[in-house]
Amino acid sequence: MTRTMKAVRIHTYGGNDVVRYEEVPVPVPAADEVLVRMHAASVNPVDWKTRSGGGQADKIGERFPIVLGWDVSGTVEELGPGVVDPDDDGWAVGDEVFGLLRFPQPGQTYADYVAAPAHELAPKPSRLSHVEAAAMPLAVLTAWQALFETGALEAGHTALVHAAAGGVGHLAVQLARWKGAGVVGTASGDNAEFLRSLGAAPVDYTRERFEDVVSEVDLALVAVNGDVTDRSLGV
Ligand SMILES: NC(=O)c1ccc[n+]([C@@H]2O[C@H](COP(=O)([O-])OP(=O)(O)OC[C@H]3O[C@@H](n4cnc5c(N)ncnc54)[C@H](OP(=O)(O)O)[C@@H]3O)[C@@H](O)[C@H]2O)c1
Repeated sequence: MTRTMKAVRIHTYGGNDVVRYEEVPVPVPAADEVLVRMHAASVNPVDWKTRSGGGQADKIGERFPIVLGWDVSGTVEELGPGVVDPDDDGWAVGDEVFGLLRFPQPGQTYADYVAAPAHELAPKPSRLSHVEAAAMPLAVLTAWQALFETGALEAGHTALVHAAAGGVGHLAVQLARWKGAGVVGTASGDNAEFLRSLGAAPVDYTRERFEDVVSEVDLALVAVNGDVTDRSLGV
């Protein structure tokens, strides 16, 4: 008998009303995949943008039904063909793992189980809960790429991180501080103490224009819409 599970799927792009909670077959892991029992997934802006037909929808196309979700944290339940034992950098049943799956193709993590490419998983750090681990992959990868691969941030630089209390921003602040850079972060006043606790000097974007109080920065990370990018070029 086919094993079934619950999954969050869409059969067309659109508003919240296109999201369906459905009974579907448990995926069978293919070669070099493992079946992961989900403990937590996350909702990043790209998830709802894609559901609505923006985001990565143009790369995915009309291959409905689509199981949404890219970030995963869970437990390895079954090994597909060719997945070797842990001594060879493989996985064993029971391992706790997290990762970002198949981006920009559907990650299919809004489900009880996901068949995950074995090389796209990493061991979940034991000090992180599954919820914390599932919140990390896409957001921290975005922050890492922006700061270090695109921005070439180095120790001694100063970074201006916009939306510094947000999902990408608060991780960018911590990565920049880890690198040895100084950080100025924009956030609303309620988040000022949070930014200080991460090592950033806060600027309340609701009360002042950052360009009036910030200068001589080496890099600006702009995870907000509007004219903030253009205004940042001046500082
Ligand atoms: N999450 C990801 O993995 C990811 C990946 C790639 C791209 N992005 C893009 O990055 C953007 C942010 O994503 P997110 O996940 O970090 O969102 P989020 O967690 O919802 O954070 C958004 C933050 O924006 C801040 N904000 C709003 N207007 C602002 C302004 N004028 N100046 C400074 N801060 C402002 C808010 O700060 P306060 O609460 O302090 O007011 C809020 O904390 C989105 O456009 C998203 O599409 C996200």
